[in-house]
Amino acid sequence: MVGANIQAAISHLQQGHLVAIPTETVYGLAANAFNPEAVAQIFAVKNRPAFNPLIIHTNNLSRLQEWGLNLPEKMLQLAAHFSPGPLTYVIPKSDVIPDIVTAGTQAVAVRIPNHPLTLDLLSKLDFPLAAPSANPSGYVSPTTAQHVNQQLGHVIPYILDGGACEVGLESTIISFLDHTPTLLRHGGVTLEQIEQVIGKIIDKPGQSGDDILTDNPVAPGQLAKHYATKHLLIHDDPALHFNKFNPLKTAVISFKTIYTQVPPQFQFILSSKGNLAEAAQKLFAVMRLVDTMEVDVILAEKFPDEGLGKAINDRLKRASVI
Ligand code: TXA
Ligand code: MG
Repeated sequence: MVGANIQAAISHLQQGHLVAIPTETVYGLAANAFNPEAVAQIFAVKNRPAFNPLIIHTNNLSRLQEWGLNLPEKMLQLAAHFSPGPLTYVIPKSDVIPDIVTAGTQAVAVRIPNHPLTLDLLSKLDFPLAAPSANPSGYVSPTTAQHVNQQLGHVIPYILDGGACEVGLESTIISFLDHTPTLLRHGGVTLEQIEQVIGKIIDKPGQSGDDILTDNPVAPGQLAKHYATKHLLIHDDPALHFNKFNPLKTAVISFKTIYTQVPPQFQFILSSKGNLAEAAQKLFAVMRLVDTMEVDVILAEKFPDEGLGKAINDRLKRASVI
């Protein structure tokens, strides 16, 4: 069921059921993080490999400390700027966090999402919520309650509808396990914004669980392919590929350029003003929409390699892996 009833969401979560929750990034598939059986259902419903750990969500930092977590100094500096917000911190875990949440590792990822409904929900729970994006493993993340309902509505009891996600891309993940903080995934907070607060960090995206980009994966979830559409997606200058496909069955996802080579209904311009935040907000909804159309291929531009453009390019690159 889809609705905006916080009490219903609370009651399901307390009983160990799954509830989809809105955040500013993407919708999450949430369970009581302290209840291993509830968390196990997340893995089952998403068909997610058990070695891929989950982010835990709560409404303020002091609760993390109550749960035995030590918050590093640089994390606190970042949190003062970006939490609540699209930034996830990987820190040493405490004993109260079940192993299933961290996939047996000694580190836990934590985030304070910035969505009024979900902050209200989290403040009324006496446990954090473990929540990956609410999509089948490997597919594009959902940015509306309807996206979640289309794919998972029949297997979860409640979807809390908080409207369309404002950021539209997952959180940035930064690890504090080593001396110098390391960026593991580009996302809603940019590298530039982070470095303005804590100085140079190591930019090593692709090192977190299901996001590892490698030619020699040691486990299935570490494959580069992710955020993928069913249709073939090519992440390159579209002009180099038009001659290889039937133009009447070719879609284009572009930043602001109009491509007259394809029919107008197959052209998706993410921000005619050239605004990366607007493009990021629309990206996943457009990828899902174009995936429902009768096309042979999706040609997606390379976005400017700066700010949110890095996160957009990362998602398109992973979607393009065959
Ligand atoms: O914006 C977001 O982060 C959304 C919303 C729902 O909060 N969540 C999300 O979760 O994108 P998910 O599970 O789809 O992606 C989380 C990523 C995965 O690549 C996972 O491997 C990584 O975070 N991760 C989680 N715990 C980790 C840990 N302890 N160490 C390293 N990476 C971790
Ligand atoms: Mg995900």
